[in-house]
Amino acid sequence: MDITAAVVREAGAAFSIETLQLDAPRADEVRVRIVGAGLCHTDLIARDQAIPVPLPAVFGHEGSGVVEALGEQVQDLQVGDHVVLSFSSCGDCLRCSQHLPCYCQHFVPLNFGGARPDGSAGLMQAGQRVSSHFFGQSSFATHALAGRRNVVKVDTRAPLELLGPLGCGFQTGAGGVMHALAAEAGSTIAIFGGGAVGLAAVMGAVVRGCREIVLVEPHAVRRALALELGATCVLDPAAGEVAAQIRARVPEGVDYAFDNTGIPAVVETALAALAPHGCCGVVAAATPDAAVSVNLTALVLAGHRIQGIVEGDSDPQTLIPELVSLFLAGRFPIDKLIATYPLAQINQAISAQHHGDCVKAVLLP
Ligand SMILES: NC(=O)c1ccc[n+]([C@@H]2O[C@H](COP(=O)([O-])OP(=O)(O)OC[C@H]3O[C@@H](n4cnc5c(N)ncnc54)[C@H](O)[C@@H]3O)[C@@H](O)[C@H]2O)c1
Ligand SMILES: [Zn+2]
Ligand SMILES: [Zn+2]
Repeated sequence: MDITAAVVREAGAAFSIETLQLDAPRADEVRVRIVGAGLCHTDLIARDQAIPVPLPAVFGHEGSGVVEALGEQVQDLQVGDHVVLSFSSCGDCLRCSQHLPCYCQHFVPLNFGGARPDGSAGLMQAGQRVSSHFFGQSSFATHALAGRRNVVKVDTRAPLELLGPLGCGFQTGAGGVMHALAAEAGSTIAIFGGGAVGLAAVMGAVVRGCREIVLVEPHAVRRALALELGATCVLDPAAGEVAAQIRARVPEGVDYAFDNTGIPAVVETALAALAPHGCCGVVAAATPDAAVSVNLTALVLAGHRIQGIVEGDSDPQTLIPELVSLFLAGRFPIDKLIATYPLAQINQAISAQHHGDCVKAVLLP
């Protein structure tokens, strides 16, 4: 069928709105009419080819929409279901069997291969292949093909067009704090970076009942939003030595740190702010050569831990419905972070998000 999609043709180039042909769903696939797709930093990394998905390509990996057609093996969804699309995984490897599909052995080819696992294209234009199945979806489009494993059915009472970012950015921040770090009630946490991931981490820390939630972020608007969401203290990194400011508030240091900046000096600050036996989670897509230097003796004596986290360590089939329930209960107010734009204005939305005018842009096809 003919669809409209935002296409990237050259590394770093602007997205162009074009008509493409979408294949029919295979036996284990679902065709979804997209109603909203969040814009994540990882889409731009792929556009710029630091993740080398073959071009031309359709990106977008925070889609939400309505099930329109089902492959014959998909028995547990129905046409009309409201769904959120998340990352793809194989379902058969060790980590998939442990409900950790974010560490699937086949994560890279399934999510960044630009095609189905068998190499077939889901998208064509006048007989030429266009990379599809980005994060198992390619949802900057009116319609997308997803695999059953990365389609998550959600409550129809929630505003479907706002739910897409639960598939990546929001689940990364919330899942990172709630599940990966598993911050306990009464614990203390410092979150570095207050974009979509960091502010979702703040909301996750509130849900977990953290006693001190410190958010470090240069943009004043984002610091104000963090306070509204339940952060107990916000710091501007330009206003002085950050680890010292955190220790002025939590003298023993924080139980948890959560970096979503990918800046080595920020991760070093996060480690310097940790209490004994504290854990620092890191999630950002850093530059390929980014590295931190850790003093081994200090690491051992303090019992510090550093934990890399993909997608909040989540199993989307359980975490996303949990976050939708929290939203409906008023405890995970993602609507405060979202600004919507027509898909045709994707380049303006990228610019607005880059300049901090909005935290999370959601594109409406
Ligand atoms: N691991 C995963 O699975 C996963 C999933 C989604 C996103 N990500 C990555 O997470 C990162 C955050 O994503 P996002 O959408 O929130 O991006 P974002 O750009 O909206 O947020 C990053 C924030 O860090 C702030 N910042 C910059 N310098 C800082 C400093 N010195 N101290 C404190 N804060 C500083 C920025 O002002 C910005 O608000 C990105 O790198 C993204 O690619 C990772
Ligand atoms: Zn797997
Ligand atoms: Zn993402």
